[in-house]
Amino acid sequence: MNGFEINKIIAAVIFTVLVVFGIDKIADLIFYVEKPSKAAYEVEAPTAKTVSAESSSSGSFNIKDFLALGSIEHGKKVFKKCSACHVVAKGGKNKIGPVLYGVLGKKSASISDYKYSKALIAYNKVWSYEEMNGFLIKPTAHIKGTKMAFAGLKNEKDRASVILYMNSQSDSPLP
Ligand code: HEC
Repeated sequence: MNGFEINKIIAAVIFTVLVVFGIDKIADLIFYVEKPSKAAYEVEAPTAKTVSAESSSSGSFNIKDFLALGSIEHGKKVFKKCSACHVVAKGGKNKIGPVLYGVLGKKSASISDYKYSKALIAYNKVWSYEEMNGFLIKPTAHIKGTKMAFAGLKNEKDRASVILYMNSQSDSPLP
């Protein structure tokens, strides 16, 4: 074996080591998965505050407990779903749907320059917290024939929040 031969062997060993380490590094890059800091599925223990939407029809529904699930701040975000069709600000204009400033505590279908559906005119109720909640779960089920084409808010916190938010947009908010 001459010097040249030994050099070749050393080169081959170095080359092999580099390849093995290289694959390891590349694999790390490709397969590196960031560990989430929080578990994806957090199991929430049911709290006493949880009230079910169904209980509203059974009479045991407590509107105070229900509203306590929400916040005005969150409601402002939820209202983005409504803002395609509604303005809630004071002095706002009707869009596809009527302006909603001060709607809570007011008679339904009472915006004079808005053309309501027959169904909503016939509905003829005051927008109490309970009525509003029932309506927002599934508008077309609560008022058959309404032209409000909105699927509804299934989430209680979202509903409670958006109701609180609308109530805050009023000259005379409900207590
Ligand atoms: C796709 C458009 C659309 C979306 C989205 C929508 N609405 Fe409406 N909304 C309407 C229309 C149209 C009416 C009038 C219904 C009628 O006359 O039957 C209405 C009526 C109402 C009324 C009755 C107002 C009154 O003067 O009696 C309330 C309250 C209301 N909407 C709340 C909401 C809330 C809260 C959201 C969001 C969670 C929402 N709407 C999302 C179109 C919409």
